[in-house]
Amino acid sequence: MTYQVLFTIFGATGDLASRKLYPSLFRLYKKGELAENFAVIGTARREWTHDYYREVVLQSIAELITSDHEAAIFASHFYYQSHDVGDAAHYETLRRLGETLAKQYQTQGNQMFFLAMAPHFFGTIAEHLKSEKILTGAGFERIVIEKPFGESLETATKLNDSLTRVFSEDQIFRIDHYLGKEMIQSVSAVRFANQMFESLWNNRHIDNVQITFAEALGVEDRGGYYDTAGALKDMIQNHVLQVLSLIAMEEPEVFDEAHIVAQKVKALKAIKTYTLDEARENFVRGQYAASSFNHKEFAGYKEEPLVAADSRTETFAAGKFEIDNARWAGVPFYVRSGKRLTEKGTRINIVFKPGGSSLFEQNLETANILTIYIQPTEGFSLTMNGKKLGQGFEIEPVVLMYRHDSAYLGNSPEAYEKLFLDALKGDGTNFSHWEEAKRAWELIDVIRAAWDEDASPIPQYAVGTMGPRAAHELLARDGHFWRWTPDVWYRERGLL
Ligand SMILES: NC(=O)c1ccc[n+]([C@@H]2O[C@H](COP(=O)([O-])OP(=O)(O)OC[C@H]3O[C@@H](n4cnc5c(N)ncnc54)[C@H](OP(=O)(O)O)[C@@H]3O)[C@@H](O)[C@H]2O)c1
Repeated sequence: MTYQVLFTIFGATGDLASRKLYPSLFRLYKKGELAENFAVIGTARREWTHDYYREVVLQSIAELITSDHEAAIFASHFYYQSHDVGDAAHYETLRRLGETLAKQYQTQGNQMFFLAMAPHFFGTIAEHLKSEKILTGAGFERIVIEKPFGESLETATKLNDSLTRVFSEDQIFRIDHYLGKEMIQSVSAVRFANQMFESLWNNRHIDNVQITFAEALGVEDRGGYYDTAGALKDMIQNHVLQVLSLIAMEEPEVFDEAHIVAQKVKALKAIKTYTLDEARENFVRGQYAASSFNHKEFAGYKEEPLVAADSRTETFAAGKFEIDNARWAGVPFYVRSGKRLTEKGTRINIVFKPGGSSLFEQNLETANILTIYIQPTEGFSLTMNGKKLGQGFEIEPVVLMYRHDSAYLGNSPEAYEKLFLDALKGDGTNFSHWEEAKRAWELIDVIRAAWDEDASPIPQYAVGTMGPRAAHELLARDGHFWRWTPDVWYRERGLL
């Protein structure tokens, strides 16, 4: 299918636009999803010419270009309009350019607005799109926005109100780029297409669930933003809870957006809302400290550029969620996310209960584990028990592995590209919906409040570890342990 559409990108001179948006549009163009009938208006305050803008677009897609001719035609669809989003008069210029391009490229009144800008501008932009009659209702009109969606339930609600005054929920596409990843989308396939898993997917057979979003990098040049957010808001509120809801939801009657979202929301609502005391007990935080790892010296978080020297922002968060429903009562969902950890990796471990046979010694060490790898490799593995080769009858873990490096699979689309295409199709399944974001904030606000009340020093952790000791104690208290411990591998080799 080839789409007819006019894109308007607010924040066209920024980092997100050139790192993600232009390359994704180019990939869709190469695949024929976009052809003659599309145009892009890029807008930001800087005074750029169309030609200069096209050069920037070409640079951002340099690695993907296989034909200069093709790339030049693609770039010719891009137009730049200098514009301050707070200035109503500028929307008039934008509207006129849009009308001209809609005619020239026959885009049938279809419009997509991508807001690659700070969220405090979203309301103003949406209101002006309406008041300055850029929205006409002639074709589909959709707005795509990035995280963060608010900083608390209160600010998220305000943000949502300002958007829904202009757009309906089915026109709003809130990006959570993890939801564009192949294996996240496959979680439901692994669950529901395999009788052997779905029949065991409950508290009679599952002991605990572990979700890890680990990053090896620090805050890099985004310290200014990160210091206002922290791991809890930056990762747990959105990506981690999205994944958790996919694991925990009931099987939707029909596999479409409405049914899937309804089940995810139900799962999120079944998560226990902690009191302040419970939140303090069940969630821990940490900050990476100046340390050496793998023979290299690293600055601590508080020494990073644009981070306050007395910052109390956490670069690591771990905790336990409990779900109050028949399927999950008694099964802890442990989550953790942090920066400067041992290695980059997003994975889910479903840890099954030890078997009942008295023939072997069975305990949590020998549990079956289904691991879903999300990045940097994708796939899944199943840890089972087999007989140790040789004399005797000892059992040992055997891992059945299906895992590949997505980067080597040329045909595996990048998360953003997939999400862009979904938005063009009007399919919001892999986007975050307001009811999900709202519930996630309710859960997170309590943890944040508990931490804000607590003036004790923020636990520090050394670069290259998997977070502070408290994150291990959290599981040990329940007789559990983290199943993925790359730090052990490093420690055994004297690297930590
Ligand atoms: N970068 C990422 O990988 C990433 C990842 C996740 C989420 N996000 C989110 O995406 C959004 C954009 O991030 P970014 O990294 O691209 O930020 P950025 O590089 O700072 O870009 C911001 C853009 O907004 C424009 N802008 C600022 N004030 C403006 C105004 N008054 N009127 C018109 N344009 C204005 C800037 O251009 P001018 O200065 O020319 O006006 C620039 O194009 C943020 O909300 C961020 O949290 C980014």
